[in-house]
Amino acid sequence: MDLTGYSATRDLARATTIPATWYTDPRMLELEKRRVFARSWQVVGHASQVAEPGSFFAADIAGEPVVVARAADGELHAFSNVCRHRASLIASGCGKANVLRCPYHGWSYRLDGKLHAAPEFDGVKDWEASAVCLPGMRAETWGPFVLVNVDGDAPPLTEVLGDIPEQVAGLGCAVDGLRFSARREYVIACNWKVYVDNYLEGYHLPAAHPGLFRELDYAQYRVDTYRWYSSQYAPIRPAREGEKRQYADPLEDNRALYFWIFPNFMLNVYPDNMSSNVILPLGHDRTLTIFEWFTYGGGAGVKPETIAFSDEIQQEDIRICEAVQRGLASSFYDKGRFSVRRENGVHHFHLLLDEALR
Ligand code: FES
Ligand SMILES: [Fe+2]
Repeated sequence: MDLTGYSATRDLARATTIPATWYTDPRMLELEKRRVFARSWQVVGHASQVAEPGSFFAADIAGEPVVVARAADGELHAFSNVCRHRASLIASGCGKANVLRCPYHGWSYRLDGKLHAAPEFDGVKDWEASAVCLPGMRAETWGPFVLVNVDGDAPPLTEVLGDIPEQVAGLGCAVDGLRFSARREYVIACNWKVYVDNYLEGYHLPAAHPGLFRELDYAQYRVDTYRWYSSQYAPIRPAREGEKRQYADPLEDNRALYFWIFPNFMLNVYPDNMSSNVILPLGHDRTLTIFEWFTYGGGAGVKPETIAFSDEIQQEDIRICEAVQRGLASSFYDKGRFSVRRENGVHHFHLLLDEALR
């Protein structure tokens, strides 16, 4: 994949977007799988799935088969889900087990990835059963999430998250103790970066989200960028008298913060719930977005109105993203320019992406 079509500059007033081919060429996704998805922290499941020793689940990181497991000694492990014998996938779904057994010829592995037994394999030369181990990866939990990094050299999760835990705490919220409440999935006919670009700016609010625009104080809307993430500050506007509103009775402190963590994880922090979005490429022009809602414990789950309102906004974003993907395929479009006031978050993403690809 030829990367010469983009020359990165930190100067937002002179910067362009990444070229259209980066969104439309299938070779770009192949490069991104190796240099972006395999080298960044990826949300693969819930900490509750591997709370007990002996529990495991299978996952996939941009085509790389992975198992996350809690070994008998309580350690959390992530390792390749590809059998060392003749490459069958080993685990599927989730569950509890003492060993993971390969469904092909029955080799079994302990939950730390070491080979437990290989039937009828005596007499094989230059092969040592005790040396056979599924290659390990780094795994961490953060609140309700399990994140895995395929690459051994990437920066630690705490460095990538930076001040996010503190900023979340500053709103009186915390990721620890979050309780899962609901999940929605949407498949969108666009490149995964079209969806991420769209998430990273509030510039499209007045034209594309009239309902949401009425709720927010757009003048104060702002995007702050950090090393590996950005945050969007979106204060909810107090209701005028007699006005019908989604947030009819705004709390005293009604701020919301939206975090995006490179490349594809979003965390939306509200006073009464937190939601996550994970954006996964299914192909160069097809994207799965997974929305999950969590509450701060106690009481009921997330309100149905909250999910319905989010769904309305998501449908508006889907229409926009699918129209953009078709526009990017046009022979008349290559690159665009940024609003200095409103699109610094998109520019920041393009710089991080370019850095990861080279
Ligand atoms: S491929 Fe797993 S035991 Fe043969
Ligand atoms: Fe939007």
